[in-house]
Amino acid sequence: MTNTREWVNWAIGRIEADFNRSADTHLIPLPVPALPDIAIYLKDESSHSTGSLKHRLARSLFLYGLCNGWICEGTPVVEASSGSTAVSEAYFARMLGLRFIAVVPRSTAQAKIDAIAFYGGECHFVDAPGEVYAAAQSLADDLQGHYIDQFTYAERATDWRSNNNIAESIFAQMAREPHPVPRWIVCGAGTGGTSATIGRYARYNRFGTGVCVADPAGSVFHRHWADRSVARVDHSAGCIEGIGRQRVEPSFLPDIIDRMEIVEDIHSIAAAHEVSARLGRSCGGSTGTNVWACARLAAEMAERGEKGSIVSILCDDGARYRDTIFDKDWLAARDLDVAAPRQAISDFFETGRFAG
Ligand SMILES: Cc1ncc(COP(=O)(O)O)c(C=O)c1O
Repeated sequence: MTNTREWVNWAIGRIEADFNRSADTHLIPLPVPALPDIAIYLKDESSHSTGSLKHRLARSLFLYGLCNGWICEGTPVVEASSGSTAVSEAYFARMLGLRFIAVVPRSTAQAKIDAIAFYGGECHFVDAPGEVYAAAQSLADDLQGHYIDQFTYAERATDWRSNNNIAESIFAQMAREPHPVPRWIVCGAGTGGTSATIGRYARYNRFGTGVCVADPAGSVFHRHWADRSVARVDHSAGCIEGIGRQRVEPSFLPDIIDRMEIVEDIHSIAAAHEVSARLGRSCGGSTGTNVWACARLAAEMAERGEKGSIVSILCDDGARYRDTIFDKDWLAARDLDVAAPRQAISDFFETGRFAG
């Protein structure tokens, strides 16, 4: 027992020291000169050392598992993931000297699989995204390990009142902007943890900010938000990795979401291409989903004569998707033509009006 507590103390100390060495992520303006009264910003979560917003979640999930006594010295750690969370968890597992196995769909972008391996993690592949949960649980049972289960624990592992969560960081960085309290914060939902943290934080601090979740057209989340009896869809949730699910995850908290915007995958991809070009840095597909929704909200605010700010998230680096949504042949094989929606989102940045 003493030995276990000593190891847990050491492990928490390692994670805290890593946090202490890390800088916060940037909040980048995304200019729309035609809309001088509306400011859009992207929180660049790709600049975490493991390349995505899941770095925060992985840290929280390891601390939660350690403090709950679920992760001990030598515990093999297993996770179900569409890739990004597993990359970040592999990083923390290696820091603690733990074996890590990611259960991921076979369709996961190769760059994420390579990154998991880079941090010493192993991959266990399943054919369909819906198979990850049961496969991860049974693997953990077989290994007498711990299934982290981000889809259940994301919302409760993150300290939503403070502790440099993504919401606290956004509001602090907005302090000297012309509209410091955002009218909207726009994010995607994979576990639902990010929207839960932002929604709770805004309520706790009594900010007037609305939470808007940008959801892929195939996803169950917006259907569930509109009708709580809908708990799953049978069709694919789409090709935007990390967001949109076929089942409503336990961490998705619909009651604190003010609005949901449905975004077609082709629109997400077109916006990812356009924003990457405009910022001079490559962004993944879920960032495109967010930006498409931001364009709708900004155009709507402008039409009503409202002033204010909108903050969204640059979730991960587009380099992870160079073989998929940034690959011409991959797009052509799926009959995905980005030209027209790319023009629409480009027109938004030029004119402030949006036909999307
Ligand atoms: C790559 C990626 N994974 C996951 C998510 C979803 O986050 P969460 O699991 O907190 O709902 C996002 C959100 O935008 C994302 O871009």
